[in-house]
Amino acid sequence: MEYIVASQGALLAGAPLADLRRRLPLSPPPPPPSIRIQNRLYSISSLPLKDRPVRRCGASLASNYTQTSEIVDLDWDNLGFGIVQTDYMYIAKCGTDGNFSEGEMVPFGPIALNPSSGVLNYGQGLFEGLKAYRKPDGSILLFRPEENALRMRTGAERMCMPAPSVEQFVDAVKQTVLANKRWVPPSGKGSLYLRPLLMGSGAVLGLAPAPEYTFIIFVSPVGNYFKEGLAPINLIVEDKFHRATPGGTGGVKTIGNYASVLMAQKIAKEKGYSDVLYLDAVHKKYLEEVSSCNIFVIKGNVISTPAIKGTILPGITRKSIIDVALSKGFQVEERLVSVDELLDADEVFCTGTAVVVSPVGSITYQGKSDFTLQGGIRAPRRWRRGPAAVYFTDESPDG
Ligand SMILES: Cc1ncc(COP(=O)(O)O)c(C=O)c1O
Repeated sequence: MEYIVASQGALLAGAPLADLRRRLPLSPPPPPPSIRIQNRLYSISSLPLKDRPVRRCGASLASNYTQTSEIVDLDWDNLGFGIVQTDYMYIAKCGTDGNFSEGEMVPFGPIALNPSSGVLNYGQGLFEGLKAYRKPDGSILLFRPEENALRMRTGAERMCMPAPSVEQFVDAVKQTVLANKRWVPPSGKGSLYLRPLLMGSGAVLGLAPAPEYTFIIFVSPVGNYFKEGLAPINLIVEDKFHRATPGGTGGVKTIGNYASVLMAQKIAKEKGYSDVLYLDAVHKKYLEEVSSCNIFVIKGNVISTPAIKGTILPGITRKSIIDVALSKGFQVEERLVSVDELLDADEVFCTGTAVVVSPVGSITYQGKSDFTLQGGIRAPRRWRRGPAAVYFTDESPDG
């Protein structure tokens, strides 16, 4: 089973950026590019995506860009999870008709926003996060980008925003990766993190949806999310601050969900914890999720994880892990998981695009001294992060 979806992949990843310009509508049609999915090569035009070839990427891509090397000269061995300025970002706009303009690749940099914009005043904004990995042969892989596109569309509906189609989203992701491909870390040294943003950029004063929306994708090369690196993380269970409430927006990736947990996270980090594990806001008893990842609890052959019921994010990594666990013969239960079960677990781990699969080494609850999970490292051995990334596949990605 392999879930890896390549970017415009094997052929384009190794091609100079000038090739992108050759693919613009006014240029003579180039030979169809290829894409590698599940280790098979397809021509782009044979894929079930609409609007091929991809939308015009109007960037004067190579005009001020000198490709001096295939990969930039960075200290790849010491990448953390922070912003590194890259070359280009994608931008598209949408007015009241709900249709997004053809996107453009523009140099990475600040954007102008009306002080009265919906995002600044009323938090009408969403984001996504996904990664591109470089394979040893130089081609570049994306992990299930259409899932991020669908999640953005679900979130946009909740936030009364128009959203790009799945096709435009995925095309935009590919264009952005290719335009910044020299920032995709060497194989095994990290990944290129993509941050798609959708925001109400139009001016609005009374509470109402904004009249204009902006869709942006910027990227940054990243390494490990937690300072612990590959070592187990230490979580504190939070029973005072809540991340989400029933009927709220916890189930979508809206920007406000994150500002509201900064305080709990700050307190936890000051006390030396890696992150915060939230409980449900009603009973203060059932697990929800960690600030930026989902949680799994293992007892015997049963892997349990909180059910998706509107207060936790339906993680794409979570979904993949469930598929993999089932295929490996584990019993998987999506249900209410109590904090007592957590403390009684054999193993605990977190999943997310940024954190990948992070083993949990200790959990602190109600100020009691650390409950250290017996046996130390607590994530299924075969799923622990390797030096490069987790590929949710039974085959080697190179195989
Ligand atoms: C609150 C929250 N939960 C879970 C996740 C994990 O989701 P995914 O696996 O799609 O990255 C994220 C990351 O996007 C998150 O922000």
